[in-house]
Amino acid sequence: MSWPPLKELLAGAVALGLVVAGWPYLRPEPISSHGRITTSIVFNREVSQIFQKKCFQCHTDGNVSMALTTYREARPWAVAIKEEILEKRMPPWSAVTGYGHFSNDVSLTAREVSLILSWADGGAPSGVLMADEDKPAVMVPSLSGWEHGQPDAVVAVAASEKVAADSPDRTTRIEVATGLKQAQWLKSMQLNFGDRRVVRYAAVYELRTGQWLGTWTPTHPVSALPAGVAIHLPAGGKVAVEIGYRGTAEAASGAGELGFYFSADKPAQVAAPLEISASPVTVAAGKSRERVRTEFTLKSATTAAALWPSLGAGATSVEVTAIRPDGVVETLLWLKDYRADWPSSYVFKEPVTLAAGTRLTVTAYYDNAGATPLRAQPSLSVTAFPPRLRVATARQARPGDATARQASRPPAPLAP
Ligand code: HEC
Repeated sequence: MSWPPLKELLAGAVALGLVVAGWPYLRPEPISSHGRITTSIVFNREVSQIFQKKCFQCHTDGNVSMALTTYREARPWAVAIKEEILEKRMPPWSAVTGYGHFSNDVSLTAREVSLILSWADGGAPSGVLMADEDKPAVMVPSLSGWEHGQPDAVVAVAASEKVAADSPDRTTRIEVATGLKQAQWLKSMQLNFGDRRVVRYAAVYELRTGQWLGTWTPTHPVSALPAGVAIHLPAGGKVAVEIGYRGTAEAASGAGELGFYFSADKPAQVAAPLEISASPVTVAAGKSRERVRTEFTLKSATTAAALWPSLGAGATSVEVTAIRPDGVVETLLWLKDYRADWPSSYVFKEPVTLAAGTRLTVTAYYDNAGATPLRAQPSLSVTAFPPRLRVATARQARPGDATARQASRPPAPLAP
């Protein structure tokens, strides 16, 4: 163990002075590390703040991977962290930046990458030492419980499901009755698993229509519809829950709860099922870059709020495009170096409106490194609803109004 020169310590203490003065349980301490400290980026300030936003969803105690909340926990991983980030393996997010903007994007920004790399390359200093080294410098969000308060209805899911010790990853599909006495308008839903160590994702479908209701992932636990939009849930219905379990060293329970939030009033827009599925293709053992493509033409104008590509084993990439009636092609989603172990839904920052006649295409590629043929059948679920109707403003036509322009122009404000 070596200590940085006094000059650096003093510079560090001055830089930290402000923080320390306002934060009684931190104390300025010499920075200790295994190598020379050549960076001013420290764990207990910049790095912790990034990890809180982009890593704590999975890297805390009792979670799906090792804790990275304190310096003591994270320091031994500094080199691995750098590698995972350079290889774009962590945080898991397969969408190529620039093709679709998603509100649940957990990928690191260029600035976050450069801060973390600077920290790891510069000797991985802790910086602000905590009075209690086992206390994180930033708040660790609670990962159990309901993010939006008590749901209107809670259903037990996979109550008797067990994950055996040292078992491989597997996917299970479970049907559960919603127990609804009367039909409801679903606004949002959340899943809650008793043991987060063993769950990678869970996707929920209404059983009768096959409509996708939402997908839980560690980084995106709540599936919410846009304001004014809801899904009709029938009385006495059932949902199918597909759960991706992760094998662990110890046996664990795979049980969880599904919480529904309803709207009392009929919504302005009702989201209807839109599922696009390719015909299955057999990928021979050893074959790679097998292309599976399907397309679907929209019969009416549709707003797409979220996408859930379900690709199955062996998928390496998928591209979803919209070919508009005028021939303009827009890539809605492009997953490259697809991580089949971390499927995710993709929630548009701004819902995308597609005219009637738009062709939605799904093109996926598969590799089969195994010894037996593989069944490839990519599908895409869309949270889809009709575009909002423009409410016509009552205004008397005036001489000089061009009828053609009127139709394409928002209504002018009423004259006082
Ligand atoms: C969606 C959950 C999730 C998120 C978010 C996530 N990780 Fe991970 N990470 C995992 C899991 C699970 C593993 C264990 C290996 C695996 O199964 O992929 C892992 C493994 C790692 C490893 C160890 C790799 C090795 O050498 O074994 C590092 C380092 C790491 N993550 C860093 C990060 C950092 C840094 C962030 C945030 C910038 C992050 N992870 C975000 C789930 C996540």
